[in-house]
Amino acid sequence: MAHVVKIVTSNPGKWEELYTMLSSRGLDCIWIRERVRELQSEDLAEIVLASGIEAYEKWGGGVLLEDSGLFVTALGGFPGPYSAYVFRTIGVKGLLKLMEGVQDREAWFKSAICYISPDGSQSIFTGEVKGILAAEPRGTGGFGFDPIFIPAEGDGRTFAQMTVGEKNLYSHRARAVQKLLKHLGLTG
Ligand code: IMP
Repeated sequence: MAHVVKIVTSNPGKWEELYTMLSSRGLDCIWIRERVRELQSEDLAEIVLASGIEAYEKWGGGVLLEDSGLFVTALGGFPGPYSAYVFRTIGVKGLLKLMEGVQDREAWFKSAICYISPDGSQSIFTGEVKGILAAEPRGTGGFGFDPIFIPAEGDGRTFAQMTVGEKNLYSHRARAVQKLLKHLGLTG
């Protein structure tokens, strides 16, 4: 029987990326377009586990949640776990302003996925991608800080200049998903 995965996110961009990867491996994906309370913590895994437990209580087994953030080396890892708040408040422009005149443009996206299986067992999978922050936003795809993130292993385009399939070749989220697929015996 095909696994059914209930993807809990209010973010259509995350849904699209997760759905594309999981459905191509034969998983049935259901979108639960809801926001779940987020714990205040510096640790993405801890945040997503708390949200996952809450989602499991509401929607039962097979729930998948993802928490992510942009960690800028020159800013001591800011905005990190506060990325959603920083994006809503100062946005891409505000972050670029903080980076004005800063030579070290290194940044990381990090992702933590919580999957709680039908029998209630909890698993966390993490992924990261290293890149540099562009001087100006480029591209219209993706979401969040995609217009200013250039993955180190790419061809110089920002994530927002890539298709979902291209972003999924490198992204933090895709790397966490790979580990989940392996756990479910769905790789190779
Ligand atoms: P949360 O995981 O819902 O707490 O939100 C994470 C925030 O980090 C998003 O609102 C974005 O601002 C940023 N973020 C996380 N992953 C990505 C990504 O793949 N592209 C662009 N921004 C991202």
